[in-house]
Amino acid sequence: MINYDAEKVAGSIFERYAERSKGSLLKHMRAKVCFPGGDSRSATYFKPHPLYMERGSGCKITDCDGNVYLDLLNNYSSLIHGHAHPEVLQQTQQKLERGFVFGAPSEEQILLANHLCERIPSLESLRYCNSGTEATMFALRTARAHTGCDKIIKVDGGYHGTHDFAEVSVHATAEPEKSSVSRLNSRGVPASVLGDVLVAPFNDLQAMESVLSANTGLVAAIIVEPMLGAGGVVPATDNYLQGLRELADKYGVLLIFDEVITFRLNYGGMQKKKAVRPDLTAFGKIIGGGLAIGAFGGSREIMELFNPEHPDSISHSGTFNGNHVTMAAGLSTLELYDTVAIERLNKLGDKMISGFSNAFAENGIQAQVTGIGSVIGVHWTGDKIINAGNVAQAGNTSGNLLQLLHLELLNQGIFSSSRGMYILSTPMNDDNVDYIVEIFDQTLALLKPCVAETAPHLL
Ligand SMILES: Cc1ncc(COP(=O)(O)O)c(C=O)c1O
Repeated sequence: MINYDAEKVAGSIFERYAERSKGSLLKHMRAKVCFPGGDSRSATYFKPHPLYMERGSGCKITDCDGNVYLDLLNNYSSLIHGHAHPEVLQQTQQKLERGFVFGAPSEEQILLANHLCERIPSLESLRYCNSGTEATMFALRTARAHTGCDKIIKVDGGYHGTHDFAEVSVHATAEPEKSSVSRLNSRGVPASVLGDVLVAPFNDLQAMESVLSANTGLVAAIIVEPMLGAGGVVPATDNYLQGLRELADKYGVLLIFDEVITFRLNYGGMQKKKAVRPDLTAFGKIIGGGLAIGAFGGSREIMELFNPEHPDSISHSGTFNGNHVTMAAGLSTLELYDTVAIERLNKLGDKMISGFSNAFAENGIQAQVTGIGSVIGVHWTGDKIINAGNVAQAGNTSGNLLQLLHLELLNQGIFSSSRGMYILSTPMNDDNVDYIVEIFDQTLALLKPCVAETAPHLL
């Protein structure tokens, strides 16, 4: 039986979206001529068509139709001070005026490296690259070179960028019995990587130990995000990261933390908060102050593999590695992101998490909110979320609720990700959070007939 209320609600959400985004639709049609499906970055594509942004200032962005949004995406967490922070802008402009990029090292590389090493106890020596993808790719290569082993272990639903060895089991399985089976998620990735990329479910030390013990002497490293990001914003359970450290030591493999997102959650990243010392860490996003960056590093002993004064050192080049403009943007950003700023932002995030949770409860919807501080995820399920498989299962059983929530938030001037991930920035204040929670609450009330039709088990 069709629930006409649900159909009416969904229809009105799409209609209002179409009405307010005509300029974006026109650009999307033009984009279809030069990009497959009009898309050049998978994460920013969504149906019916993405919005084209024109400018941003602080926590607000404006699209090409003149609509203003509170930015609750912050370029998938690469922005910590929102848009065009005056201090970061000035530092970046000053460097640009001195020349865009040199085929030479710069003082700014050392300054940013010193700052990072001061913040992160496990980081004694590092190298720059231009993305989180490169950072995890080189961290893995470093681990292989150090151990002489080829295999690595990642978790089901862990996202480490788009290089071949990271494109395994990215889309988690909702079937628990398959969560330790490596799967290719992208056509074009050679099937041969499946032999070298092993998988275990997140937050499951027993499963990790089974994989390690079945591959003793063959594994270079375990790579893990201290909190799953793209896989659903799932925090590690209390003893998980420490347990991974112990397993890595027991089986003689390196432990790599991918802190591309989680670095923002504590002055020294999640590793400092949880007091777990990884052997190597991959960084990206906020450490470039909004410009493209990646970095990887760890103990001096391991990173000596790259010392060009040694015969047989690992070569690692990149035309834009450590360019002085990005270095300056990153350093000024991190200097502003001190312990006071971090605590304030995390508190705002915690307030949003409880606001969203209350909104679900008050609307009688059994859904839940996960995350830590400024990184938040919403899941249309009442079941416990401890790994990415649980997130996938929630997605499979909630129809188009995530899509309708996303589009209606856009209609109400809140820009977020289509996958239900919400990221805060330091220009936000209590009023912004109160406003967002109020809109979220109203949106849930609007969506109730759709919940009743699509996922009645949630009511
Ligand atoms: C945890 C994590 N690692 C690696 C990456 C890849 O970073 P980039 O998009 O800069 O290649 C991302 C990107 O979202 C990420 O979230």
